[in-house]
Amino acid sequence: MRKLLLGVIWMTISLGAAGATGRPQEATVALPEPTIVGEVTLEEVLAERRSVREYTDEPLSLRTIAQLAWAAQGVSDAGSGFRTAPSAGATFPIEVDLIINGADGLQDGVYRYDPRDHALRLRLEGDMRLELHQAALLQAWVRDAPLVIVVSGVVARTEGRYGERAERYVHMEAGHVAQNVYLQAQALGLGTVAVGAFDEEAVASVLELDGGQRALYLLPVGRPR
Ligand SMILES: Cc1cc2nc3c(=O)[nH]c(=O)nc-3n(C[C@H](O)[C@H](O)[C@H](O)COP(=O)(O)O)c2cc1C
Repeated sequence: MRKLLLGVIWMTISLGAAGATGRPQEATVALPEPTIVGEVTLEEVLAERRSVREYTDEPLSLRTIAQLAWAAQGVSDAGSGFRTAPSAGATFPIEVDLIINGADGLQDGVYRYDPRDHALRLRLEGDMRLELHQAALLQAWVRDAPLVIVVSGVVARTEGRYGERAERYVHMEAGHVAQNVYLQAQALGLGTVAVGAFDEEAVASVLELDGGQRALYLLPVGRPR
């Protein structure tokens, strides 16, 4: 009886503590289907793409966020599960987190993109931008963007097949993903900048990355000021 009582007290404390850290119950946001018909040509997008570091305060719509997530890692062939960005041996080591603030109908927080379900899963609640800004060596664009896409890689997924070459492959894949985001942002009239200068451990700590996941790129996105 005493054991049972202690167990109940422990459970109550644990649940209370979990709530206090801002870690939400798993919340899933189904995303609008991506469009594959744009308003500008690929050549125009290539010719006009520039890194953008100043954004307006305009919030992004769920449709826009969905389109950017799909461009980064969306499934483009349902049969094979292959994605918008190439992947060495289709080992898919890349994960995409989205730090969303002030978006239509979404609570602020850190979301993980699930390519298979084309959905977002809320991982952490709250505004993480100041902490991320500090981890990114005080680069203002990381603090000011309504959306920061974090591209990270899990080398172990690719290592089984490619051994020592896996790390370089994962870095290459992050480049493909970032370029997709650059081009999609440009096509939507938005801007981004690939941020590679940051304290990797600090970013991992802010985003609570685990399972061998290493942040490789931060991509703030917003409407150019
Ligand atoms: C690997 C890599 C890392 C980068 N890191 C940063 C960064 O930490 N901060 C930043 O403001 N821009 C960063 N950039 C963006 C470059 O500064 C930018 O691409 C370059 O100035 C050329 O400008 P453009 O992208 O407009 O053509 C990075 C770009 C690459 C490819």
